[in-house]
Amino acid sequence: MALPIRERTWERWEMSDPGTTSVSTEQVHFVAGATGYTGRGVVAALRRRGHLTWAHVRPDNRGLERWTTFFAEQGAGVESVAWTPEAIGASLARIRPTHVWSLLGTTRARADRDTGSAVPETYEAVDWGLSKCLLDAAVAAGSSPVFVYLSAQGVPERGGNDYLAVRRRMEHAVRASGLPFVLARPAFISGGDRLDKRPMERVYATAIDLALGPVSAFGGRGLVERWRSITGPDLGEGLVRLVADRGLRDRVVDGRDWWPLLVRSA
Ligand SMILES: NC(=O)c1ccc[n+]([C@@H]2O[C@H](COP(=O)([O-])OP(=O)(O)OC[C@H]3O[C@@H](n4cnc5c(N)ncnc54)[C@H](OP(=O)(O)O)[C@@H]3O)[C@@H](O)[C@H]2O)c1
Repeated sequence: MALPIRERTWERWEMSDPGTTSVSTEQVHFVAGATGYTGRGVVAALRRRGHLTWAHVRPDNRGLERWTTFFAEQGAGVESVAWTPEAIGASLARIRPTHVWSLLGTTRARADRDTGSAVPETYEAVDWGLSKCLLDAAVAAGSSPVFVYLSAQGVPERGGNDYLAVRRRMEHAVRASGLPFVLARPAFISGGDRLDKRPMERVYATAIDLALGPVSAFGGRGLVERWRSITGPDLGEGLVRLVADRGLRDRVVDGRDWWPLLVRSA
């Protein structure tokens, strides 16, 4: 898979966020899922601000060398430790992050591919197992980091399919962890710049965005912001504005929180 040399979407953003209240020169970010569509957006947004950033890349990722170069070019460090409680725990205890980003997730399509991962491509093993492993390591790290968990729009109080049920379970675990947290609930994360193209997701996302057009015209702005699709670079920038620039804590956030920030400065 060819990696993009640069992702330029961000160039249209102004770098001074008028709502900034808590810029710290000492933020240390650990990004799990850094190689993903959202993860790359988050790492890029953090590095644009000069935050010390560690991108986690699993050692059995076949593109490890290319990813290392990709992140090094942005000034991010690469932490390539295995997904075991001991290795992730030791890594976070050494790095002592102020923020831990949990941006992991598998898909049914990945289960049909040979991804080379030692971790089975199931929601139970990845979306729950790895995310919970990361949460436990963040609790034990001793630096009380803000835990940012990428969940999904529409997580119900009970029921739902396997995908949503895992997200609910993980949201509960984050809330019960005692760490400061942000739970992010995007709708479709979709764009032409995804490395794995996901054509059906593009079709659904585009159809929903089109259907939301008339809703917007009749004043349903909150509904539109909540369900509108977003690209990985935009979501990365929006989340970093909320969490790193504005110091948001102990909140569930969705498009109603990030779209106004992105649109104002577009
Ligand atoms: N896509 C959407 O429309 C959407 C909407 C709402 C919420 N979400 C949720 O948001 C999260 C991130 O989404 P995304 O689209 O940014 O993800 P993505 O591009 O598919 O990236 C997934 C990340 O998870 C890692 N991963 C997956 N399976 C793994 C395995 N078996 N072992 C180790 N690492 C594994 C990947 O690492 P490697 O690159 O090393 O394989 C990658 O860093 C997911 O939890 C997703 O469910 C997605």
